[in-house]
Amino acid sequence: MKAIAYSAFGGPEVLSVTDLPDPHPGPDSVVVEVHAAAINPVDNYLRGGHLDGVLDTHFPAVPGWDVAGVVVQTGLDTPEFSVGDKVFAYARKDVVGGGTLAERVALPVRTAALAPRSLSLVEAAAVPLTGLTALQTLRRAGVTEGDRVLIHGAAGGVGTFGVQIARHLGAHVVGTASAANHDYVCDLGAEPVEYGEHLVEHASEHAPEGFDKIIDFAGGASLDSAAALLAPTGTVASIADARAATELGGHYVWVRPSSEDLATLAGLIDDGHVRVEVARTYPLEQAAEAYRDLAGGHTRGKIVVTVR
Ligand SMILES: NC(=O)c1ccc[n+]([C@@H]2O[C@H](COP(=O)([O-])OP(=O)(O)OC[C@H]3O[C@@H](n4cnc5c(N)ncnc54)[C@H](OP(=O)(O)O)[C@@H]3O)[C@@H](O)[C@H]2O)c1
Repeated sequence: MKAIAYSAFGGPEVLSVTDLPDPHPGPDSVVVEVHAAAINPVDNYLRGGHLDGVLDTHFPAVPGWDVAGVVVQTGLDTPEFSVGDKVFAYARKDVVGGGTLAERVALPVRTAALAPRSLSLVEAAAVPLTGLTALQTLRRAGVTEGDRVLIHGAAGGVGTFGVQIARHLGAHVVGTASAANHDYVCDLGAEPVEYGEHLVEHASEHAPEGFDKIIDFAGGASLDSAAALLAPTGTVASIADARAATELGGHYVWVRPSSEDLATLAGLIDDGHVRVEVARTYPLEQAAEAYRDLAGGHTRGKIVVTVR
């Protein structure tokens, strides 16, 4: 099969179109014909070798953890799925390699669910990693009805889902974004504020007594203002800054594969509570260009690589 792969750590230039053997399903996996695979900042960190102490890489490594496609082969014990099912998955394994930027991929059933009926497979591929991250982080922070919630990185891949899910939970949401994304963040259901030097002043106007939850989906300097903006009983959670746990008494979250949570996301999407934003698509052969685009750090929603 055709896949994108790399055999040494480095920038997008180490990626090339490669012929690799077709994957076999393990006992509790299914093989999927990939229609589309979304890309994520973590792929760039992994390929750069920056997470080498966290996850081993098996070269030649096919990148990508997000996928939507059609089941073409089931495993020995996979009653959850049948050949022909349209599925989506956050297909993270315990090693890096065997990823989703390929014509076929083997998916452990615990990473997959039936794709949302209302989406194309390109849109479905844009959901798993970021949608699960948003859902699991809001849950860990205990976001609930009536909460005043500040979401950093509201226009990004994770933030797009985070704002909508927090609104669905009944929270009042303020979201940080650059000025160019304020209309977009408004459409998602949040009050936009610009990040940067006037953040505390502007965000405080929306929550004079402080935020009940501060959710960091951006990293960088986002949490520098957390102590000033948090209500006395408030909680912080971050997906990109360990200070949330080590200095602020909150939570640092690393998204986990979960077929149950994917089914929850599919329900929210099919019921019209959450919409999906695909910023751009690239064909498989242009995966390196897609990763350069993502590394710019200002994607609105998701970038998706199309495979067929
Ligand atoms: N721990 C986990 O499980 C986990 C899971 C997913 C992602 N992450 C990490 O979380 C981060 C975000 O991921 P993503 O997929 O959402 O990235 P993304 O799609 O590239 O989005 C980044 C967004 O951040 C915004 N942004 C940039 N600088 C900002 C700042 N200083 N303050 C607020 N917003 C800012 C940009 O919006 P503007 O254009 O408006 O500036 C952009 O929309 C990455 O570092 C990623 O590696 C961690």
